[in-house]
Amino acid sequence: MRTKIVAGNWKMNKNLQETEALLSELSAMLPDSTAEVIVAPTFVNLQAAINSLQSSTIKVAAQNMHFAESGAYTGEISADMLLSLGVDIVILGHSERRAYFGEDDALLAKKVKTAVEKGLKTIFCFGEELEDRKSENHFSVVESQLKNALFDLDASAWKSIILAYEPVWAIGTGETASPEQAQEMHAFIRKTIADAYNASVADDVSILYGGSVKPNNAAEIFSKPDVDGGLIGGASLVASDFVAIIAAI
Ligand code: G3H
Repeated sequence: MRTKIVAGNWKMNKNLQETEALLSELSAMLPDSTAEVIVAPTFVNLQAAINSLQSSTIKVAAQNMHFAESGAYTGEISADMLLSLGVDIVILGHSERRAYFGEDDALLAKKVKTAVEKGLKTIFCFGEELEDRKSENHFSVVESQLKNALFDLDASAWKSIILAYEPVWAIGTGETASPEQAQEMHAFIRKTIADAYNASVADDVSILYGGSVKPNNAAEIFSKPDVDGGLIGGASLVASDFVAIIAAI
């Protein structure tokens, strides 16, 4: 049985007071669910989030991490720094990191390796751009993103990998992949992993869908057999919407 997960990526939103307010609303409204619920506030509010959620089942993730142990990397955050706060989940490879901060597959391979070695779980994001889909290259783009960043990992490392397929054209645009498009790609991802490793690694990895998931479309997307939950952006910033999405799983 794969773990169902609903994760909220808050991106560069919510100051300290807003973070505390949203988390207290969420904790109060959290529905009974079999899904693991994760929130990823900005770095500076991770400590506050950990404190606010002490008696909650909601877990806290970071939105990024450096690959180095420590050193002269001004403005960066290490795995040990996250772990010392009690944060043991990190989002890596988000398309905004790739597009605006030049993160490529080679850099992401280093980050994922460090996360695995340090014992953090990684929510690894990837997905094709609109041009790739129009030119019908979406499967090969996704395959190469996975291969370049993840396929040097040992099979045992996959216990700490969560995948988040996020077609770039569906992020923050209001346009989602159809449930059928999501299922088709998720099944392809699982087969690609089975071919590179084995059926057990492929069957056990949770594959989340991300891109304009909202309360009104979550249930249909989550009903697909290879979709194990969602990575939610905009709708995770409104407690009632995020809770409705969690309830849809
Ligand atoms: O990390 C989350 C994704 O970028 C999805 O964002 O739900 O606002 O489209 P969105």
